[in-house]
Amino acid sequence: MSRKTWTAVDDYIVASLFEPDPVLDAVLAANRDHSLPAIDVSAAQGKLLSLLVRIGGARKVLEIGTLGGYSTIWMARGLPADGKIVTLELDPHHAKVARSNFERTDVSGKVDLRVGPALQSLAALSDENAGPFDLIFIDADKPNSPNYLDWAMRLSRSGTVIVCDNVIRDGDVVNEDGRDANVEGARAAFSFIGGDRRLDGTAIQTVGAKGYDGFAIAIVD
Ligand code: SAH
Ligand code: DHB
Ligand code: MG
Repeated sequence: MSRKTWTAVDDYIVASLFEPDPVLDAVLAANRDHSLPAIDVSAAQGKLLSLLVRIGGARKVLEIGTLGGYSTIWMARGLPADGKIVTLELDPHHAKVARSNFERTDVSGKVDLRVGPALQSLAALSDENAGPFDLIFIDADKPNSPNYLDWAMRLSRSGTVIVCDNVIRDGDVVNEDGRDANVEGARAAFSFIGGDRRLDGTAIQTVGAKGYDGFAIAIVD
């Protein structure tokens, strides 16, 4: 089984289940035009995030790692009319592209994009009593994942759903001789979720247009 098949199946999922989506097509085209790395979630994964927002009835979402806002838009679409998503991005160029992408959508009024190191933005959100968030999506610099999980706990309530992207990394998460900082970050996320008695979690391995990776999903008790 190859990435070619995984991509064809992702295309089949999209063609079978999703409406044509010129807005998100334009977002991905803008990301390419502005040389953003193509590390957004896939369409199938974005729809999963949107469904998780709806399934949990989330009204307040926090995202760490915006890039061009592709996953932000998927999650914002799952929010009710009065819902809000705060999304945190370090890179001003990514943030600028994301901001103009939000303007292409009908959810821009729900998005609060904050530029700067996420650890600083998280401290500011805590100072503002911006929490508790109903769903938190962690998808930024992987070595900081345990720090982001720590902040996620502080900005949570009982029932908050926490999703962590890129925790499988081609299976390298079980490859002991890998010393890649991103893989170490994935392992640290597993240790955090496994070690915190307030968290009940699992991880789902995914294949598709974005290769072989996966999400960790946990709920705060
Ligand atoms: N969630 C996006 C992809 C995010 S890629 C999507 O699926 O569409 C990871 C993003 O995290 C990049 O844009 C990167 O600039 C950002 N990032 C890296 N380090 C960061 C930090 N310390 N604080 C905030 N954002 C950071
Ligand atoms: C990388 C980051 C991501 O968030 C992702 O989904 C895929 C790859 C990376 O930094 O390599
Ligand atoms: Mg990711």
